[in-house]
Amino acid sequence: QMSGEKPRLLNMTEAELYSVYKSVYLPKHVHPPESLKYYEDFTFRPDDILIITYPKSGTTWMQEVVPLILSEGDLTPVLTMPNWDRVPWLEEQQAIKLNLEQRPSPRVFATHFHHSMMNESYFKIKPRVVYVMRNPKDVFISSYYYYGMASYMVNPGTQEEFMGKFLDGKIMMGSWFDHIKSWINAEEKESILYMFYEEMIADLKGSVEKIAKFLGKSLSQDVTQKITDHCVFKNMKQNKMSNFSLVPEEYMDQKKSKFMRKGIVGDWKNHFTEAQEQRFNAVYKDKMKDVKFKFMWD
Ligand code: A3P
Repeated sequence: QMSGEKPRLLNMTEAELYSVYKSVYLPKHVHPPESLKYYEDFTFRPDDILIITYPKSGTTWMQEVVPLILSEGDLTPVLTMPNWDRVPWLEEQQAIKLNLEQRPSPRVFATHFHHSMMNESYFKIKPRVVYVMRNPKDVFISSYYYYGMASYMVNPGTQEEFMGKFLDGKIMMGSWFDHIKSWINAEEKESILYMFYEEMIADLKGSVEKIAKFLGKSLSQDVTQKITDHCVFKNMKQNKMSNFSLVPEEYMDQKKSKFMRKGIVGDWKNHFTEAQEQRFNAVYKDKMKDVKFKFMWD
């Protein structure tokens, strides 16, 4: 999946490991300049489907659910293609090699870009978007473990130190707050389905039905049930095409932390001190003060 420069050996800094693209940090390894150029020039089709997330909000989960809806429960795509080929990130280097122009419709892509970072074709074509959000406190904890195991990311340091970076947006893909605000304020709302990680945990079957409806697919109860059963955490975790076990250990050391780590709502409560909770709440309150959107975690 990744090639080029050597990954972090010990404690490489942001300046060494990341580039700044449209004001956000991107790990150089995964997003070389030619990839970013490829994305800038990419032409969307009206029936493309984009899975858009801030990292650690349920991307991989959606990369399983959407292809299964399109295949009407046929497991072939999710059991034969790694998630990064099945639903490629447009900003990652392997997208260039996949001949996406030749793929039959409907194509499915992923991106972690903020709304303002989308390319010209996106704003012209307005393809369908499934935007997944998750409680930022859980995103923070999930990110903390991910940064600890992925060698192309800056070592997160202590939870306290990493919280400062997270709240300031000085991490991969920038600020969670900016990402969320950019997408909930998008003008093209009729082409966007807003989903919550928390609603998928609470009712995965209902979520599959809702996404299928948005994508114009009517599925039988049996098919919906089959997709749901495959996508629950304990089952999906076993799928080596989706659990990142195909990524060499030098890039992701799953002995430190599994990619499919816990898959629950509210894990932050097991990790935050009271002071950290107050610190996080104060920043959240300030940054989200003008936001009217109803979030499931509120
Ligand atoms: P945790 O670290 O809290 O376990 P992303 O795919 O956007 O990087 O997000 C990764 C997070 O989604 C991880 O969270 C991972 O365990 C969780 N996840 C992936 N597949 C899931 C599933 N089928 N059910 C629940 N959570 C899932």
